Amino acid sequence: MFKIMVLQGDHIGPEIMAEVLPLFNLIETRFDIKIETVERLIGGACLDTHDCPIQDSTLQEALGCHAVLLASVGGPKWDVGDSSRRPETGILRMRKHLNLYANVRPAKIISERQLRLSSLKEDVVRGVNIITLRENAGGIYFGKKEEPDEHAWRASDLCEYTREEIVRLTRVAAALSLANDQEPLPIISVDKANVMASSRLWRQVVTETIRDEYPQLVDKLSHHLVDSAAMVLARDPRKLNGVILTENLFGDILSDLASVIPGSLGLLGSAEMDGPPRSHDRDRLPMGVYQPVSGSAPDIAGKGIANPIGMFESFGLMCRWSLGLTEAADAIDSAIKQCLETGQCTSDVGGTLSTQQAGSVLRQLIREALG
Ligand code: NAD
Ligand code: IPM
Ligand code: MN
Repeated sequence: MFKIMVLQGDHIGPEIMAEVLPLFNLIETRFDIKIETVERLIGGACLDTHDCPIQDSTLQEALGCHAVLLASVGGPKWDVGDSSRRPETGILRMRKHLNLYANVRPAKIISERQLRLSSLKEDVVRGVNIITLRENAGGIYFGKKEEPDEHAWRASDLCEYTREEIVRLTRVAAALSLANDQEPLPIISVDKANVMASSRLWRQVVTETIRDEYPQLVDKLSHHLVDSAAMVLARDPRKLNGVILTENLFGDILSDLASVIPGSLGLLGSAEMDGPPRSHDRDRLPMGVYQPVSGSAPDIAGKGIANPIGMFESFGLMCRWSLGLTEAADAIDSAIKQCLETGQCTSDVGGTLSTQQAGSVLRQLIREALG
């Protein structure tokens, strides 16, 4: 029996979440398992009801769940006040409380049609397969903060990393690299070691961890400075095929940049986990929060045109990594691929379907793939 928390969030959040919720029933029947879902509030919806972006009781309860499925939070209505009253703080508190230190954000080209959707040239994006692995529970996001003073002259955010934080993320990078069917994927560690002390520690610890624990991956590891990595990502992204292993803020920025490659932010899913993926070891699956990379897209909310694929992608990652349901995850991947190949999708990726129509096509394809 699995227990899963569902957090719909704001704006397009409930619209895209509605399309994946029927999958719980489908999976229960197909795999003869029980899934209990609990629905709670986060973000603006929670601020409106409980005057905080997430309740302590929700964080506590999430600790007892196998996974959390989250849509997206935020919006102009709540863009006021200090950090304690911002919707995004709900997400940050969850990352810290649940120790979700590994944020995995894949960006890849899975169908020929996608080549025409990207704002980069077809020849540049063909064959791109990049997994951004972002440190998610430390660094400048969680360092000591000093808010702007009364004259608005000074404010400060501290970027700090410890050896342990870098070692554990490097192990996740190694697991992702070794999980590749053919040969291990390259590990591209991205830092700013020419300027930042925390980056010099990063580079040293990544190098030592791979050398000492994964000698078979020493040849797969390379180090890049973040500014030039950003340039390569836009100029020749195939050069970064593999796992980009990086700290919190760099990973935030690079993963949005990488998201232009597949054609729409609405296509991407993500996983935030408290340990490495271990599909082969069902007794030690990581707990995770699974959510689309995009935000709550207030500009298109209520129009019924939000792309639900990133939400399906996130559901698939949850099945694969936190529930150990590899067959379900494969069926979801193949349904997404077919949708993109046949153009049965929403307008952001060149289709004519509404969110609901695209959702129902995807569910039908998943049903067929599961047989
Ligand atoms: P956004 O990701 O919401 O939107 C950026 C652009 O992408 C918009 O034009 C939007 O219409 C489009 N887009 C996003 N998702 C789409 C989808 N599924 N289908 C089609 N088009 C889609 O970014 P933003 O506008 O900068 O932020 C809006 C709010 O979301 C802010 O409050 C921000 O803080 C929040 N946010 C939340 C998360 C999260 O919940 N994890 C992540 C990023 C931003
Ligand atoms: C993301 C978002 C978050 C972040 C915000 C909403 C806190 O941009 O998940 O990438 O900056 O990490
Ligand atoms: Mn971001």
